[in-house]
Amino acid sequence: MINNSVKNAGKFEFDKDFVVNRLGYGTMQLTGKGVWGAYKDPQQAVDLIKKAFDFGVNFVDTADSYGPWEADTYLAQALKEYPDSDKIFISDKVGQVRTGPNEWIPLGRPEFLRQEVELSLRKFGRDHEDLLFLHRIDSQVPIEDQVGELKKMQDEGKIKHIGISQVTLDELKAAQKVAKIDAVENMYNVGHHQRDDAIVDYTKENGIAFLPWFPLATGQLAKEDGPLADIAKKYNASPAQIALAWLLKRSDNIIPIPGTSSLDHLKDNLESADVSLSDADFEKLSSLE
Ligand SMILES: NC(=O)c1ccc[n+]([C@@H]2O[C@H](COP(=O)([O-])OP(=O)(O)OC[C@H]3O[C@@H](n4cnc5c(N)ncnc54)[C@H](OP(=O)(O)O)[C@@H]3O)[C@@H](O)[C@H]2O)c1
Repeated sequence: MINNSVKNAGKFEFDKDFVVNRLGYGTMQLTGKGVWGAYKDPQQAVDLIKKAFDFGVNFVDTADSYGPWEADTYLAQALKEYPDSDKIFISDKVGQVRTGPNEWIPLGRPEFLRQEVELSLRKFGRDHEDLLFLHRIDSQVPIEDQVGELKKMQDEGKIKHIGISQVTLDELKAAQKVAKIDAVENMYNVGHHQRDDAIVDYTKENGIAFLPWFPLATGQLAKEDGPLADIAKKYNASPAQIALAWLLKRSDNIIPIPGTSSLDHLKDNLESADVSLSDADFEKLSSLE
């Protein structure tokens, strides 16, 4: 049963009111080309998110900049139509502006961060963000001002947990001097992990969640003729499931958030929690990079 699959991924506890299944969903595929504009079938996007909830996903990663606002519009609609949607934890991000397809510009001015949090809360009909990431550090603005504004909003009750995305270990430690950091979201997958292995270990030691973005290397690791094809056959699994099973085994503070616009791929990804890699195969996969 697919619902049990998600549970097999284990849980991560942000706090006693915030315990999530360790296999989530990322909304970034639910936009137009270049993460720009509307998804080709908005109703399908809403239905897919609701299916993810049906299958036991209670952790959804999103951002104002996906579309911008398009993915959040579908997520908001799915939440509105779903019973018990207050049990769905939103992992949100602010701090980038969009000027066109595939164009992303960090903007960390405190007043912009605050505006985007306020607009996101309005969009989701909530009075607080469960988890709010600074999407990118803006090199033009002191980190104390960027993370400091999120801390202010946390003190005001508008943000429960603060995260920081695509950072070095030094940047993470600098952010920790300004606020309690409960999550890091960096690019990380079985084919690209060495750069951030030390951050994963540091976050694990410090009780911080680690969200690996591009868990499937934008689909490259999911290919039937890709680098995981042989080992996938051995486990009677799909290559995508092997990529996700590796992340789940890598450390129990990792919450993969694979993105997909396909119901079949959604099921495939969630069933990765049923794949239990041997220690030897885990090591073999780790040396792929
Ligand atoms: N913090 C950041 O800076 C940052 C940056 C990028 C992404 N993110 C987050 O990370 C999430 C995941 O990243 P992502 O969606 O860009 O990349 P991804 O999860 O690595 O890969 C998604 C791609 O893989 C395909 N795919 C998914 N499942 C598959 C399966 N089982 N079999 C075959 N193909 C499959 C999808 O196509 P189909 O649609 O056809 O399934 C899509 O093209 C995003 O949704 C977003 O929430 C964060």
